[in-house]
Formats: sequence, structure tokens, C-alpha cells
Amino acid sequence: MGVYGGRTLRLAKFLAGAGVASRRASEEIIRDGRVSVDGEVVYDPAHDVDETRAVTVDGKPVGEHSTQLVVYALNKPAGVVSTAKDPQGRPTVVALIGGPLRLYPVGRLDADTTGLILLTNDGDLAHRLTHPKFEVDKTYRAVVRNGPVKGPTLDMLRAGVQLDDGKTAPARVVRVKQDTLEITIHEGRKRQVKRMCEHVGHRVVSLQRIRFGPLQLGELKPGGYRRLNEREISLLRTAGRGSSANRT
Ligand code: URA
Repeated sequence: MGVYGGRTLRLAKFLAGAGVASRRASEEIIRDGRVSVDGEVVYDPAHDVDETRAVTVDGKPVGEHSTQLVVYALNKPAGVVSTAKDPQGRPTVVALIGGPLRLYPVGRLDADTTGLILLTNDGDLAHRLTHPKFEVDKTYRAVVRNGPVKGPTLDMLRAGVQLDDGKTAPARVVRVKQDTLEITIHEGRKRQVKRMCEHVGHRVVSLQRIRFGPLQLGELKPGGYRRLNEREISLLRTAGRGSSANRT
């Protein structure tokens, strides 16, 4: 199975997904006769294509060889894995987006964690957003057992707790309901939020990522995704430490 997850796509969606232009602008490009599929000009934006087709715009191939760098925000549903491929055959975040570009998830969420995950074909950006030295904040909403969570417990989480792999860095922790915390961390260790909460006696019942650096989950429905615009991508490029935008 290829990067489409075996799906067919309408030509306009295919071009939009490949970063050629927005969906609307791609429809225009097609109607203008600038797009060929397997060597034949196609004027219908709804024409179905799959990964076996050779698609060109103005004679240039579109797809895996495209140099267009794109970033998608996806609201990951529970049960979907955030690897590019899963040996157990579970659905992947990459297959949810489909399209011709080879996208990679930016970091990982556990299979049962929901919420905001980014996918990109820009390796430098993915590195900046995931390497601990850049300290890009991620905020999680955790519903926990044994509420209400008391003030001293919140303070312990804020100060950092001693886990098997070392003490966690100071975190921002806000109690939004008796049993619900919003926890902002920048380290991204494996199962970090769940382990932090467990350590202070509150097992996590459900976990959702609601913010990644400057980006909010917003209105995306579970399984929904959207391509980020240039302004959002440039905000991501300067997120975290070490950027001139963040020097004080
Ligand atoms: N912390 C966790 O425990 N799980 C995730 O998926 C992300 C952060």
C-alpha cells in the first residue's frame, strides 16, 4: 500500500494535498487545462486518481518528488497510531490524510491519546518541533481518577516529579475541573503525562493534546485535518527556544 493508503482521490484534492494550491485554486488550474494525468490533459476537477497515475502540472510531475513543504494539523482519534506504518495493521495518522506526499508525524501520541498532531514532509521543522533542546510547549487535557486533585498535588506536578527516567522539568498545570488538568510540558518523554499523573496518585482516564507550540486544536473534529497556512508554519518555525523571535 502506498502513501494514499490505497485510496483514490479527486484530482483537485490530490493537487491541494500535494501542496500545489488550495482546493479551489487547484480546480481552476485543472479547468485551465494545465493538468495532465498519464499524459492526457484532464479538465474535470472531480476526475479520480490514485497513486499509480502520473500527474503533472504545467508539465512538471506532482507527488513524491514535489519539493513543496507542507504541514497538516490532524485531530487524532483514539485507536489510530501516530507512526507512518503499523506492524499490527492499525489505522495510522498518515493514512487518515492520504494524498501523494510522503508525510511523517511530528512526534508521537499514544494510540489511546486523542487530539492535535502535526504531519509534515519538512524534516527540519519536525526536528525543531520535537528535539527537547528547543523546548516547544505542548498542552494536554487529562481527565484523572481520584479527583478532586488537591493544591499540593498540583504543586508537585508543577515542580517536577521523579520518574524512572529522571525528574521532569517544571510544568504549567491548571486544574480546569475537579478531575481535569491542563498540563503544559516541553520534554515529550514516552507516556510522560500519564506517568506524571500516576506518580501523584491520579491515573489518567483520558488524554487529549489541545495545543502544540503556537497552534491550538481548535474546531477540528476527530479524524478531521487541515493544511496549515504560511503564517502558521512560520510561527512553528520560530516556536520554542533558540529562535531570534524568542530571545529576550
Ligand atoms: N503524554 C502521554 O502520557 N501520552 C501521550 O500520548 C502524550 C503525552
